[in-house]
Amino acid sequence: MIVKELSFENFRNLENNTVFPSDGINVIYGDNAQGKTNILECLWLFTGNRSFRGAKENELIKFDNAFSKIHLKFEAREREQEIRLMIKGGNRFIELNGISKRYISEIIGSFCCVVFSPNHLTLIKNGPDERRRFIDAAICQIKPSYSSILSDYKTIITSRNALLKDIKEHSELMDMLDIWDEKLAVQGALVARERIAYIKNFSKYCSEFYTGISKGSEKIEISYKLSFGDEVTEDTSKLKAMLSDKLIKAQQSDIYQGYTGYGPHRDDLVVTIDSKNARNFASQGQQRSAVLAMKLAEASVLKAESGEQPVILLDDVLSELDYKRQDYLLNELSDKQVFITCCESEIMTKLKEGNKALFYINSGRVTPTEIE
Ligand SMILES: Nc1ncnc2c1ncn2[C@@H]1O[C@H](COP(=O)(O)OP(=O)(O)OP(=O)(O)O)[C@@H](O)[C@H]1O
Ligand SMILES: [Mg+2]
Repeated sequence: MIVKELSFENFRNLENNTVFPSDGINVIYGDNAQGKTNILECLWLFTGNRSFRGAKENELIKFDNAFSKIHLKFEAREREQEIRLMIKGGNRFIELNGISKRYISEIIGSFCCVVFSPNHLTLIKNGPDERRRFIDAAICQIKPSYSSILSDYKTIITSRNALLKDIKEHSELMDMLDIWDEKLAVQGALVARERIAYIKNFSKYCSEFYTGISKGSEKIEISYKLSFGDEVTEDTSKLKAMLSDKLIKAQQSDIYQGYTGYGPHRDDLVVTIDSKNARNFASQGQQRSAVLAMKLAEASVLKAESGEQPVILLDDVLSELDYKRQDYLLNELSDKQVFITCCESEIMTKLKEGNKALFYINSGRVTPTEIE
């Protein structure tokens, strides 16, 4: 997927303009609060998702204006395509290749990006929730049927948890628990199997990227950790047997807590750097490198599955990275289309010429700049 042309009108603080990026690395640089992240946010909206900053529709429209229009021309599936998006009155109106769509979700999958923003460091820093969400969202992109597997699982957990609370008052409901345990074990095995299969593939790419970023000086390992057993297998019947066994043994403690203690909703993704858990021991730069490698790996899996390389958006990724790591991002990813924002002007000296473009942004005005 290649962005050929991006136009924006009344979008955030950006001065109305059309930008023609390079097919490789695009560096957007400027001081703080000039509009760098706004450009990435604008590109991201064409994926059909909500802003990665969690912005509401009206916040995207330039102050004191009634609407914003953005337009993207891109190449995907070997043809030129375009998406037009208008934001007005709290709504988004969308057109894909000249055909207007009723729901924004109808364009999901047409234009794909992965985005790194400093907020995503929580992927390493925070608890397992965020990492589970990351895997689930990544799988949904390549296998839409996974979202119903997951939502069925969540429904079962909700029902089982409600039953656990009811049993405290009505012990005659105990028989029902075995029925829900069976359902949960079947559905939980399906969720775990999909995640394990995804991580097997994903972790290989992640290691390759991390080795590149750290120039081979550190090793990352990503593994799936089951909450209900040690055998991380793609065999659904084994997963089901393990979960079933745990659920039955934990019935009394689950009733006591009113909560299901075992299952994929308690699993985790363990990230280690040189065999140490990244959450507890990694430095700022290592955490940043790890999240970056994860985002790049997510894009590679998507490419392997769909045949299309997603566009990579890297917001404010260079700070806290040493020269070697910055060099990797600026000069060794040019087989992909990347948009990367940064503040320093010395970026010019780090960029080697090639498949890349430099844009300077000042008070929302984007100006293409020569690489010296
Ligand atoms: N709806 C809007 N209308 C006009 N200006 C806006 C709107 N929303 C945000 N802005 C302004 O856009 C400016 C630039 O925001 P942006 O987040 O893109 O900056 P940045 O260049 O990424 O800065 P930093 O380096 O600090 O991350 C902010 O000063 C903000 O006040
Ligand atoms: Mg920013």
